[in-house]
Amino acid sequence: MTLWSGRFSEPTDADLRALNDSIGFDIRFYAQDIKGSIAYAHAIADAGLITKDECGRIVEGLTLIRQEFEQGIFVLAPGDEDIHTAVERRLIEIIGDVGGKLHTGRSRNDQVATDFRLWTLDTVKALHQQLGLLQTALVEKAEQHLETLMPGYTHLQPAQPITAAHWLMSFFWMLQRDRDRLRDAHPRIAVSPLGSGALAGTPLAIDRIELAERLGFAAISENSLDAVSDRDFVAETLFVLALTGTHLSRLAEDVILYSNPLFGFITLNDRYSTGSSLMPQKRNADPMELARGKAGRLIGNLTGFLTTLKGLPSTYNKDMQEDKEALFDAVDTLQKLLPVVIAIIHTLHLNPEKMQAALGEELLATDLADYLVNKGLPFRAAHHVVGRVVRLAAQENLNLSQVPLAKLREISDLFSADVAQVFDFAASVARRTAPGGTAPNAVRDQIRQAKQRLDSLSE
Ligand code: ARG
Repeated sequence: MTLWSGRFSEPTDADLRALNDSIGFDIRFYAQDIKGSIAYAHAIADAGLITKDECGRIVEGLTLIRQEFEQGIFVLAPGDEDIHTAVERRLIEIIGDVGGKLHTGRSRNDQVATDFRLWTLDTVKALHQQLGLLQTALVEKAEQHLETLMPGYTHLQPAQPITAAHWLMSFFWMLQRDRDRLRDAHPRIAVSPLGSGALAGTPLAIDRIELAERLGFAAISENSLDAVSDRDFVAETLFVLALTGTHLSRLAEDVILYSNPLFGFITLNDRYSTGSSLMPQKRNADPMELARGKAGRLIGNLTGFLTTLKGLPSTYNKDMQEDKEALFDAVDTLQKLLPVVIAIIHTLHLNPEKMQAALGEELLATDLADYLVNKGLPFRAAHHVVGRVVRLAAQENLNLSQVPLAKLREISDLFSADVAQVFDFAASVARRTAPGGTAPNAVRDQIRQAKQRLDSLSE
């Protein structure tokens, strides 16, 4: 028997129960449900609806139920449809009829929204911290490779030399924005819908503000119709997690590519590499392929849930129950993934010799154009001149530095003997000292900024 079976003459169909019940997954926020109910008991006691003594018994009963959950001895009853009804049913079993007073003026509609917001607040905080650990791993690795040179790519074609530290730090900032977004979402998640009733508000003289404060919310909802159906906080969190997953997938792709023997820039630690059952030589980056692949799942959770919300009529509709599995899955996915990605970055071995060996002189073509610019040539013209030098070198099968000065001077008489100084990868990198550039000194500053952001956000 369910708690709402009064108006029906036949028991609910078993297949419908299997479809309708959410206890299989919303049991996950039993702690938030009980916390919300304890606060609500105090609120209706303050409003004079139950006596202090009744409130005390309700709180005692709820505390006992929490212990049962914590000890793993809470027994579900056949009628338990969701966590809210399960807790209420057990409360009445333990303390008797007075337990039935707890739900006065409250609906599962404002209750579930309250519980899920509380759960999301806790979860967002934990993810925020975990992302910080990944950022820390990136900073630590970057600090070891401030002077390590590697090719930088655009369009996946060799572009300009960069430092490995700069490459690693680029992911720090993606994650920083993800952490900022999690933090920015906080005031919109931390809004208490409790006291909205089923949809129209509560006739009880409860102090909604005090109730919200007791639960750690920052504000109360202003419209009960909106409050019981506002799942923006779920969609927004799903978006941040989908974008985080997208960032991780890009990091993963670089790691996969750079660990390919054709690049050989990095080697994954044995503990985080996988082999092949058939090919004995294989060293696969499976965890990174999973990091890349899981982004699809995270994006799917977001688009799936937005599709559920789209076009719903006003206030609560059962469709909204779909919010939970989407967010649970997204959170579980990241919480399984992040520890492995963090460990992979911590144990990642960089191979500076391989990176060095991949530095072709064509990466210095821009520097050669800059050389001509310094001699007074407009950049557009310099670009054209160097294009001709590159073509000539390719025709003659020469590196750029091997093209004889006489040949260079045939193309532009601005070339002189000092052009030899251009062909120095470290010097090229060291010139890019403007903030945000790849020069070791600029990256040192970047890392200083990064550490400040980590400190200021960890409070
Ligand atoms: N299990 C439901 C959910 O997750 C709780 C709210 C049910 N409300 C209702 N009117 N049936 O959304």
